[in-house]
Amino acid sequence: MQSWTATAISCPNIAFIKYWGNRDEALHIPSNGSISMNLEGLFTRTQVAFTPALQSDQLTLNQQNIHGSPLERVSAILELVREMAAIKLFASVKSHNNFPTGAGIASSAAAFAALALAASRAAGLELDEQGLSRLARLGSGSACRSVPGGFVEWQAGDDNLSSFAQSIAPAGYWDLVDCVAVISQAHKPTSSLEGHALAGTSPLQAARLADTSRRLEICRQAILERDFAALAEIIELDSNLMHSVMMTSQPALFYWQPVTLEIMAQVAAWRRNGLPACYTVDAGPNVHVLCLGDHASQVKNRLLQIPGVKSVLTARTGGPARLIP
Ligand code: DP6
Repeated sequence: MQSWTATAISCPNIAFIKYWGNRDEALHIPSNGSISMNLEGLFTRTQVAFTPALQSDQLTLNQQNIHGSPLERVSAILELVREMAAIKLFASVKSHNNFPTGAGIASSAAAFAALALAASRAAGLELDEQGLSRLARLGSGSACRSVPGGFVEWQAGDDNLSSFAQSIAPAGYWDLVDCVAVISQAHKPTSSLEGHALAGTSPLQAARLADTSRRLEICRQAILERDFAALAEIIELDSNLMHSVMMTSQPALFYWQPVTLEIMAQVAAWRRNGLPACYTVDAGPNVHVLCLGDHASQVKNRLLQIPGVKSVLTARTGGPARLIP
């Protein structure tokens, strides 16, 4: 018998080479390719149930009913799934995050990767990884990178078909750990959705884009060769470039807080003094500090000593989005 319910689990990801700005806002065709690592242990679990009794799509996140634009974004993906599967039923979507939303840990990435998998399977579709990655991308750009496992590259592409993410190396390939220094769990003032639309107003965006294929190449090689020194240099440069674009957009976007900058300075100093660690910051104030597994507890302890750091989440490299019973 046809099953109309499925549950999927997916990790967020942290970008080493960032996605900032779109060539096509509606389809989330990015202005540049990007590279990320999935974050194990942090997850979104999403159950989708297509049900005859429903009069509209429904969404709960951490057991709270959600309306307005988040529900509309989810419904848009459900609508695509309904079209592909030729079904007319509305769905109830129940999602649960085990990490704080809206503070520089890409909750929308895990959310739309899990939604794409759960909704398509609940509707009886068997999309391959590229198809799932494309569908997730239509919900949130960075979500296409949470579909494959491990270290992942999103080929920018130039249309819906050519823009999807693929694994560069599996989760166990390199023992990297992301130590996320949480300094605020508040929702970010400007969503990345609005931020992407402003990227082109910065005179620095063109220079950032012109240099992206070089950074992608260095980052890809650093991962494949497990070269931490090369990775550290390129991901700090890339994060600083994205924030330079943000700060010089009109209106200007400042995601850093004083503690953000303090952590960045300390991490760079640790590295100069022999502790392999580097930072990257998304569209929020929290700092992702990457290090090797052997140094993770030392990095975590040092971060916790910095005034203003409320907690530190640690995550090794995570696997692909997957169905769960
Ligand atoms: C700074 O994927 O969250 O985290 O496509 O509008 O949902 P939408 O944006 P989103 O943007 C992520 C921006 C970033 C960098 C990155 O993850 O590459």
